[in-house]
Parts: sequence; structure tokens; C-alpha cells
Amino acid sequence: MGHIRLSREADLIVVAPASANMIAKMTHGLADDLAAATLLASDKPVMICPAMNPMMWSHPATQDNLALLRQRGVMILSPDSGEMACGETGEGRLPDPAAILTHIQDHFGSHRPLTGKRAIVTAGPTYEPIDPVRFIGNRSSGKQGFAIARALAEAGADVTLITGPTALPDPAFIETLRIETASEMQESCNESLPADIVVAAAAVSDWRPAKRLVSKMKKRRNAQPPALELVENPDVIAGLARAKAGRPALVIGFAAETDELIENAKEKLTRKNCDWIVANNVGDEPVFGAEENHVYLVTRDTVEEWPRASKDDVARALTQRIITHFTQTPLKEAAE
Ligand code: CTP
Repeated sequence: MGHIRLSREADLIVVAPASANMIAKMTHGLADDLAAATLLASDKPVMICPAMNPMMWSHPATQDNLALLRQRGVMILSPDSGEMACGETGEGRLPDPAAILTHIQDHFGSHRPLTGKRAIVTAGPTYEPIDPVRFIGNRSSGKQGFAIARALAEAGADVTLITGPTALPDPAFIETLRIETASEMQESCNESLPADIVVAAAAVSDWRPAKRLVSKMKKRRNAQPPALELVENPDVIAGLARAKAGRPALVIGFAAETDELIENAKEKLTRKNCDWIVANNVGDEPVFGAEENHVYLVTRDTVEEWPRASKDDVARALTQRIITHFTQTPLKEAAE
């Protein structure tokens, strides 16, 4: 059958142009023509080159569909801006065929510079149980960590994503371990070693209740509210970064701060023995659950402010820096 043969024989399926209609069909699994049926019958890598009217491009329906496809591992080329066939101007033009060809060549060749590198990425919050129904948690959505895992995998790294509870589905082609507590995160990280790269985007709870009650805490009439005794959690990233043997070559932490952003980030870098810190201000701008992030990259001797961008773009920019780090590190040093 045509659609089965086509999907089995391909190494890569490129949809160019990908209309808003075709993107919607791919997202929802429709198979009412040869192209859509081939895509549904395939487990091969897919690259799409969206092209449509600017309003259709920016419509939430299209953007939500694209977000879902991206999560499933579909590679999405950004459309060009300019005058459209319909006479309107904006984002939605099919990129130049030569640019599409370059992306295809990159896919098969030089664009996977992290091939052979192992990466551990932590994401999401941790939940520290008080009793069977209550826990201490935080507002982390996991989006930034998931985006970093995807970007590293796209660059060829072998990625293990270790995540606390989030609403996000497992990203395609990435080993995803789901944990709840900081201690479980630490255990999973240790079991996932050795690694060359660690990116700790998780918002790990600093404390946990000293006792985990087996029965639900009851509110007794006229009783005082209970006092919660807390103990400190293990510091997952500091543990990895301070390992005497087998320390990952590049340890990148995050710092979410409300005050003294850069100073606190620098202090964290030293205290946790990280190589870099990605710092963001969670006081002024929405970060938790948001689609965008405004970060600073802090290294031992530099501080860079990056423009506010989607979490996917921040992930890609960080991956690019990681690639540069490994390609510029002298081979001898990398081997040590
Ligand atoms: N982190 C970790 N384990 C912990 C706490 C934090 O691995 N128990 C990691 C986070 O994943 C992040 C970095 O350390 O990469 C900084 O986290 P943050 O919560 O900002 O730092 P804290 O150590 O909690 O410092 P503070 O409470 O002073 O802000």
C-alpha cells in the first residue's frame, strides 16, 4: 500500500509547504489523503516547513498544534516574513528551498555535534509528602527543563530527563524518569551517571517534612494547628558537581531569584561548584508556567544577559553554548 511503503522507505519526511490544514491534520491524526496517511503510518523523523497567511500562522489553534507537534519531536522550521501570495504582509512565507535543503543536510550531518555525549537534565518541581494527601511543592511547570532536554537530544546528545510531577508528556526519543521527591531525584541522577553534561532546571524543594505520616493528619476540634518540622533535602546538583570521581565535564545549574540576581547566581555557582548558572528573576516577570524566559548566563568570569525569548529558544541558545564549549575545549582537557 502506497502510504505504508512511503513511510517505511523514508529516512526523513519533509512537509513543505506545511499548510495550517496539514499541521492540524498531523496534530490530530487525520489520514484522509496520501500525505496525511503516510505521516500517520510513520515513526520516522519529520520536518515541517509551515507556510500560510500570517493570521492563520499566529492563530492560537495553529500555535497550539505546533507546540504539540514539537513535543512529539517534529522539527519545525520557522517561516520567513514578507509579502504573501494573498497580498498581506507578515510571518508565514515558505523559507527559501535552499534554506530547507540546508536544514535537511544538517539533520543528516554536522548538526548533531553532541553525538556521543551523555546528558542528564532535571526538570519540574519536587513534591515532599506530609501525609498521604498533602505535600510541599512549588509552581515549576517543567517547561524549561523539557525544552532543554529536547534541544540537547536534537543536537545528538543521549539525554536522560529526570522530572518531578508535571502535566507535560514524555518527550519523544528521550528517556524520561518520573520522580516525586528530592531524594528520589538524587537517586535517579546517580543511577543515570556517568554523564558529560548536567543541566539542573528542576526547582528542588530545599526542605521536606521530618516525618512522613502514614495516616492523614486530622483537624481536631479546638486543637492548635500542627507545627511542621522540616529537615534539609540533599542538594542534587552540588552532589554531582562535587563528585571526586566522574564529575560531569559541564555542570549547569539554575537560579531563580527575587533579589540580587547576579550576586546570588555567582554565589550559587561557587557554593555548588557549578560551571555555569542560568539565572532568572522570578520576582518581576512571570516565569513559572510561562512560555517565555528572560535569563542571564553566569560563568566563572562572565555575565551575559539574553533577550527575553521562548523557553524553546532559550533551550536552543543554551545548547549552542554547550556545543561551543565542547568543540572549543582542547581535546586533552576534555579527556581528563
Ligand atoms: N538544586 C538541587 N538540589 C536542591 C536544591 C537546588 O539540585 N536540593 C539545584 C536546582 O536544580 C538549581 C540550583 O540548585 O539548578 C539552584 O536552585 P535554587 O533553589 O535556586 O537554590 P538553593 O540551593 O535552594 O538556594 P536558595 O534557597 O538560597 O535560593
